[in-house]
Amino acid sequence: MSVFAYRHGRLHAEGVALETIAETCGTPVYVYSRSAIEDAYREFAGALDGLNATICYGVKANANLAVIRTLARLGAGADVVSGGELSRAVAAGIRPADIVFSGVGKTRDEMAQALAAGIGQLNVESEAELAVLGEVAQGLGVNAPTALRVNPDIAVDTTDKIATGRYEHKFGIPIEDAARVYERGSRTPGIRMVGLAIHIGSQILDLAPFRSAFAALADCVRGLRRAGLAVERLDLGGGLGIAYIDETVPGLGSFADVVRDTVGSLGCGLVVEPGRRLVGNAGILLSRVLYSKETPEKRFVIVDAAMNDLLRPTLYRARHAVVPATRPAGGEEIRRVDVVGPICETGDYLALGVDLPMLGEGDLVAIMSAGAYGAVMASYYNGRGLVGEVMVHGDAHAVIRPFQDPAALQALDRLPDWLE
Ligand code: LLP
Repeated sequence: MSVFAYRHGRLHAEGVALETIAETCGTPVYVYSRSAIEDAYREFAGALDGLNATICYGVKANANLAVIRTLARLGAGADVVSGGELSRAVAAGIRPADIVFSGVGKTRDEMAQALAAGIGQLNVESEAELAVLGEVAQGLGVNAPTALRVNPDIAVDTTDKIATGRYEHKFGIPIEDAARVYERGSRTPGIRMVGLAIHIGSQILDLAPFRSAFAALADCVRGLRRAGLAVERLDLGGGLGIAYIDETVPGLGSFADVVRDTVGSLGCGLVVEPGRRLVGNAGILLSRVLYSKETPEKRFVIVDAAMNDLLRPTLYRARHAVVPATRPAGGEEIRRVDVVGPICETGDYLALGVDLPMLGEGDLVAIMSAGAYGAVMASYYNGRGLVGEVMVHGDAHAVIRPFQDPAALQALDRLPDWLE
């Protein structure tokens, strides 16, 4: 059963009524369930049991220290893409040796930060980056444990902005160049080639592209080994999708079978980088209704959350379920509405064409499955504050990031002396 469920007609997160959170912490606010995160991690780890795999949580999905700490306590590693995420992962208690640094555009400073911290792996995505990493590592007198991210030129069925595995995308090194670049890396001072990495996209609901990509990776490993190059580690990336509305989601056992069939017998240590699958369904965005209104064409429910708090619907046309915090009594009129925010753009919506009972000022709604790529993508557009975050644990709840008041953000601006 979901940790977000009605009890006595009121929607709860674990043992805490969302109403209570709204009253004590204000809205809009993200609410995460610690046990939902833990259950998702344990399910993933259980499925990969026996595969010599490390789960490096894709921190970009939700970088709150309390979320990372929840996973660190269960033994997770981390996949980071910036110095900021690296510092969060370390502060949350992830062992540096279990941290992978991904991304096409690491700066020299970020590389130095990663090497000084003693992180386990840097995934390099171009020959230019390989050369720079070698220089930075030499400067520090260390060898950078390096994996080459290959691009297998495989299409996935997901939103175009988050597919990453075709040659038209900026990611990785074309797989046909992998042997040459890997060999070059193995001769580059400051570089210690440890393996290959891949990541074909996000919110993928079909296992077939994973199978093709991992099989291509396995071929690549065999080719490298024939050429006398050592490959110790394979990083399989993230990308497993979740259910937002009624999607059928691949089981983790079936995913593990794909891993076993394709790369399981190569004797490599494996890394997986799930983000969304660990935290996506573990969080909601709680928002209060401000007004309802109708035009000759549509009905709108205007809430206090907006695209600056949850960008996914606007940016990807992503669909999130919206649920009232008070269970409809039954028999009442259900209306098809757009749930929109206060921002001055038609693109500012949280859900289009959803069926909800009549809602009026003060009613609470939960925008579901907002634990991944929600708070991390928030901004303060339109002079709004930065949305806060709460974590629930049984009957307890705690603010894990307070709402950032617009006044505090305003105070960061500086007037140049030539404008005074
Ligand atoms: N590893 C790498 C190298 C990645 O680029 C990503 C996500 C992950 C792992 C984690 O992927 P996941 O398991 O969460 O699918 N903002 C978008 C998603 C962007 C994903 C970027 N990369 C969204 O809201 O749907």
